[in-house]
Amino acid sequence: MNILIVGSGGREHALAWKISQSPLLKQLYIAPGNAGTSQLGENIPVDGTDFEGLKKIVLEKKIDMVVVGPEVPLVAGLHDFFDNDPQLKNVKVFGPGKEGAQLEGSKDFSKAFMQRHDIPTASYHTVSTAEEGIKVLSSMKAPFVLKADGLAAGKGVLIIDNQKEAESALKEMLNGKFGNAGKKVVLEDFLSGIELSVFVVTDGKNYCLLPEAKDYKRIGEGDTGLNTGGMGSISPVPFADKAFMDKVEKRIIRPTIDGLSKESIAYEGFIFFGLMNCGGEPYLIEYNVRMGDPETESVMLRIKSDLVDILSSAVDGNLIQGSVEIDKRTAASVIMVSGGYPGSYKKGIPVSGCDEVKDSVLFHSGTINKDGQIVTAGGRVISVSSYGKNMEEALTVSFRNVSKIKFEGSYYRKDIGFDLK
Ligand code: AMP
Ligand code: GLY
Repeated sequence: MNILIVGSGGREHALAWKISQSPLLKQLYIAPGNAGTSQLGENIPVDGTDFEGLKKIVLEKKIDMVVVGPEVPLVAGLHDFFDNDPQLKNVKVFGPGKEGAQLEGSKDFSKAFMQRHDIPTASYHTVSTAEEGIKVLSSMKAPFVLKADGLAAGKGVLIIDNQKEAESALKEMLNGKFGNAGKKVVLEDFLSGIELSVFVVTDGKNYCLLPEAKDYKRIGEGDTGLNTGGMGSISPVPFADKAFMDKVEKRIIRPTIDGLSKESIAYEGFIFFGLMNCGGEPYLIEYNVRMGDPETESVMLRIKSDLVDILSSAVDGNLIQGSVEIDKRTAASVIMVSGGYPGSYKKGIPVSGCDEVKDSVLFHSGTINKDGQIVTAGGRVISVSSYGKNMEEALTVSFRNVSKIKFEGSYYRKDIGFDLK
């Protein structure tokens, strides 16, 4: 099979790493990819939202399956574009169509979906005027959770302690702070607990559970400071034991898949369940219609089965329920970022030492090749991912290798996994 992966981050490098191990793979292409993915396949400089550009690659390279990494092309209707084009309709697209992608593309849609299918989640109100919103806020208790309805590049959720501040933040959102994404705002109850990320591959009827993971979003140790794209991840999550995961499957995953099927929403893709463990009871915070980043960098290490076979069966609608074999070891990923991130940072800084890394897998996020040299091209630069018989061991290997990779101003969190000890 010739496969095209769409995307350019660590998630896509990790997908490329796993897909390139499949005996079913003939040629691998990544659009646009990064310096890491170029070691596994051919990078082609086309963006995921350039549907005509992707079509050209698919026809020229005789692509059999497109695997979509990020949410933006899915929400914009990439899958539908392929289905509606006679030249492309035999090409498999892994990732949901526009309708299914609303699970991530609209918070209002996803909350209403959860409610229709009795999936445990925070109670909520969707508002579209300040007057309505202020009334709702006055009936709620702090902290106030405000969410822009549409995609806002991970910045659309605000958690605010003070009611007056929540009111002004709401007005800003409705007045266009996040563009059209904030025309509607979801106000919901605050859930207190510990988060984890659970993933499935589904064909819309059956699903395969992938390893769960925990990510570390804040820039500072002890989960302090600004939010980032993710500073590290661990899989498995110790508190996600059988009893907890049984509840997750029964109360959240199965009702979601059955709900999609009952509502005749075709869905072939990943579903990422962002969960809160509230005293042993799982609540669904959000759906994403893609894998998580940096969770994928740990999750891919733990999948033993052939990922191409699983993804392709899902697109064909004949996924065998539960058919993923999982490595029992722990995987830990530590992300090295550019100095200054998530604020402003320099790009184009040479990265050295990658060849000296032993016993870890490197997944590039923000890197490019410049005249044969790997240089930084983003805030998150590289993930150092390792196995261990437990979390401490996996992290020790990752930290040892982090110290071999050098670029000016590099930073990483030394406390990944601190809350799981
Ligand atoms: P979301 O984009 O919906 O995942 O929200 C981003 C982050 O905000 C989540 O990962 C949580 O850390 C936090 N969050 C969202 N909704 C809630 C909630 N109802 N209660 C507590 N924290 C939340
Ligand atoms: N790690 C969370 C996300 O990918 O949205």
